[in-house]
Amino acid sequence: MSSQLRVLVTDTMEDLSSRSGQDPLKPLKANYDCQIWSKPERPGKAELQSALEGCHGLLCLITDRIDSDLIQSCSELRVISSCSVGVDHIDREAASTRGIPIGHTPGVLTETTADLTFALMLAAARRVAEGDTFVRSGGWKSDPNWGLASFVGVDVFGSTLGIIGLGGIGRAVARRAAGFGMRVMGWSRTPGPVAGVERVELPELLNQSDFVSINIALASETRGLIDREAISRMKPGSVLVNTARGGIVDDQALAQALAEGRLAAAGLDVFAGEPIGPEHPLAALDNVVMTPHIGSASLKTRMRMAELSVENCMAGLEGRPLLRCANQADLG
Ligand code: DGY
Repeated sequence: MSSQLRVLVTDTMEDLSSRSGQDPLKPLKANYDCQIWSKPERPGKAELQSALEGCHGLLCLITDRIDSDLIQSCSELRVISSCSVGVDHIDREAASTRGIPIGHTPGVLTETTADLTFALMLAAARRVAEGDTFVRSGGWKSDPNWGLASFVGVDVFGSTLGIIGLGGIGRAVARRAAGFGMRVMGWSRTPGPVAGVERVELPELLNQSDFVSINIALASETRGLIDREAISRMKPGSVLVNTARGGIVDDQALAQALAEGRLAAAGLDVFAGEPIGPEHPLAALDNVVMTPHIGSASLKTRMRMAELSVENCMAGLEGRPLLRCANQADLG
């Protein structure tokens, strides 16, 4: 250790190390006094607060709530680095007010998340999870009458896709859609042309798309964007896919539209109030395919995210500009 600076890391990253044969935390461990949260349960608010005492850096995950109280309580804190692109779990205003940069990991997870978006789109449209359950549970053997209408779904190829959010991931989804012969519409808060995407207003996108993919960050302006009214505007028989953040969609309204058959299906990787379990209204529906927030979960991508979060953390500790800083605009 060449420095007395102290860092709290809220994950051992041991699983990544053993799978990849490389420890992404190595440079941090070699240079700083690292306090690594190694208990199997995630740290709660009080535990985070006490573990962060006297720390100059924090390397955290999306499951850690980094609220204003926590940020205020740690007077030495110089950098918050999250191993994620989304930073809605961190109180940006509180960090910016104290001049603390927030590191994040855009770019490295773009293609991997776009892959999962398409996986969910295809699985929801073609009832892949339903079919899998049917075979595994013995349903097929006990009802062997293969029929022309068995497990019929909707076509992805040649349909219209509406992408909400035209950042890196939204654009990567659009590129994949071109291969599926889709007409691609898009809406985002930032104007400007995007290759292969017809820009439209949100109501038009909702009304005309066979598939709606949410690829926008969760922020105060996008929380509840796809509410009951927006869902009611969606084309009957369409499919919603969300690999962004749960808070963007009203889960109750979505569950109702799916249960009533107004929407054909949904493919969801994210939910308001994660983790969710079988008691969740969406989990009771056969026309929903769900995954546990794994958009960026390929080994290669998670390693790159971990390495970038370490680099961001080290830069912040040493007073250098972060490679990827989520609140750069606030810091000036
Ligand atoms: C992110 O990076 O924000 C994802 O949601 C988690 O990998």
